[in-house]
Amino acid sequence: MAPAVPMRLLPDGAAIETDGSLSISGCRIDRVAEEFGTPLFVYDENHLRSRCREAVEAFGPDRVIYASKAFLCTAMARLVHDEGLLIDVATGGEMFVARHAGVPGDRLVFHGNNKSLTELEAALTAEGGIRPGVRHVVIDSFDEIDRLVELRRRGLPVPRVQIRVTPGVQAHTHEYIATGQDDSKFGFNLGNGDAARAAELVKRTGCAELVGFHCHIGSNVFAVDSFARAAEVMARFAKPYGLPELTLGGGLGVAYTLDEEAPTIASWGSVLLDACAALDLDAKVMVEPGRSIVASAAITVYRVGTVKDVPGIRRYVAVDGGMSDNPRPVLYNSGYEAFRVSDVGAERPDRARLVGKHCESGDVLIFDAALPADVKVGDLVATPVTGAYGHSMASNYNKVPRPAVVFVADGRARLVVRRETMDDLVRLDLP
Ligand code: LLP
Repeated sequence: MAPAVPMRLLPDGAAIETDGSLSISGCRIDRVAEEFGTPLFVYDENHLRSRCREAVEAFGPDRVIYASKAFLCTAMARLVHDEGLLIDVATGGEMFVARHAGVPGDRLVFHGNNKSLTELEAALTAEGGIRPGVRHVVIDSFDEIDRLVELRRRGLPVPRVQIRVTPGVQAHTHEYIATGQDDSKFGFNLGNGDAARAAELVKRTGCAELVGFHCHIGSNVFAVDSFARAAEVMARFAKPYGLPELTLGGGLGVAYTLDEEAPTIASWGSVLLDACAALDLDAKVMVEPGRSIVASAAITVYRVGTVKDVPGIRRYVAVDGGMSDNPRPVLYNSGYEAFRVSDVGAERPDRARLVGKHCESGDVLIFDAALPADVKVGDLVATPVTGAYGHSMASNYNKVPRPAVVFVADGRARLVVRRETMDDLVRLDLP
C-alpha cells in the first residue's frame, strides 16, 4: 500500500486541518477551489519567496537570473524582481510580459536560439525612453552576430553580451531537455572552436561588448557532478579571456515523486562555486534557475468527473483538466503523485490511471497513480510539484480554457491569472 503523499512534495506552507483537509499558508484548498473553480494552480507565495532568497543567499546579489519560461505572469515577474533576482526572457513575448509588469530592462537577460531582428531591436531599445535596454543578451549563433552587426549599423545601442557555449558535457536527463552535448541546436560548440571564433568575431566587428560566457547543460538534472564538470570546463575555457561574468545555467532537478530526492539550491551553489574557485576564476558566477524556484511551490487542483473500471485491467479516474494544463507526462514521461484534498494525510491503497478530459488516449496525468480509497465523482484530487512548466506550457487543446492561477499567502488567496472564458476561445477569430 502506498503511503500518504509526503509533505516534502507539498509547498512549504502546507498543513493538515483538524478534519484532515489540506490548507496552504492558512487557506483551505477546498474553499479556494470552491471560490476559483477547477482545474486550478495554487502557488504558495512565501514558498516562492523563500526559494528566491535561498538562491540569492547561495550565489550573491545580482547573480541569480530567474528563468521565466518555468512560470511567468505579471505577479510572478513582480515577485522575483522584488526579491532582487534578474529575469531570463527567452522570447519577445516573455520580454513583453516582464516589461509590462514594470521590470526595468536592465534587470532582464535576453535568451533564445533564434532571436529575430525585431526581438533584438526591442531588447536593445529603451522603451519609451524610460526603461533601458536589457542588461545583456546571450548570443546563440553566428546569424545572431550578423543581426547585431546590422543593428549596430542602424545606430542602435551596443549591447552587453554573453556567448552561449555548448561545453560537450552530457547531462543525465530526458533527451528533449538535455542541452550541453555537442549535438545541440543551442549555442556555440566549444570542442570544434566555434565558441572561440564567436568571441573573436564579436570583438572584431564591435557589434557588442563581450562581458562573459554562458552554458546551460540541461534541465531537471539531479547529479550535481554533471554541473561540476560543466563548471570546470567553462571556467577553464573562460579564464584566459579575463571577462567579468560567467553564467552556468539553470537545470537543478526537483523531486516529483515518492522515490525522488533532489539536491537543494544551497548545495548546488556550493558545488558550482567550489568548482570555479578551484580554478581561481575571478569572474562573477551567475545562474539561471527556473524549475527549482517554482516547481514545488504549486499544486494543481482538479475535480473528478468520471471513474471507470475495466475489470481485470485497470481503473480510470478522469479529472476536469489533463494534458492541456500538464503536458509533461506525455512529453517526457514524467511522474507525479496525486492525493485527495479532503484527506491529504491518508494512505493510498488504490491504483488507477489518472487521466484528463481530452480526446486522446495519451491524455494521461499519472500512468499508475496511487490514490486514497474510493476516489469518487466530485472529489477534489490534486497533483503536487506542478509549479514549473505546467501553466507555462498550457494549451487550449480541445478548446479547453486554460486554468486560473492563485497565490496564497498568510490566509489570503489572490487571483493572479484569471481562468480563460469561452469568449477568450474566439477572441482571435475573424468572421
Ligand atoms: N537557462 C536556459 C538557457 C534554459 O534553456 C533553461 C531551461 C533554464 C535556464 C532553466 O532551467 P531549469 O532550472 O528550469 O531546469 N519544459 C521542460 C523544461 C525545458 C527547459 C528549457 N530550458 C520540462 O517541463 O521539463
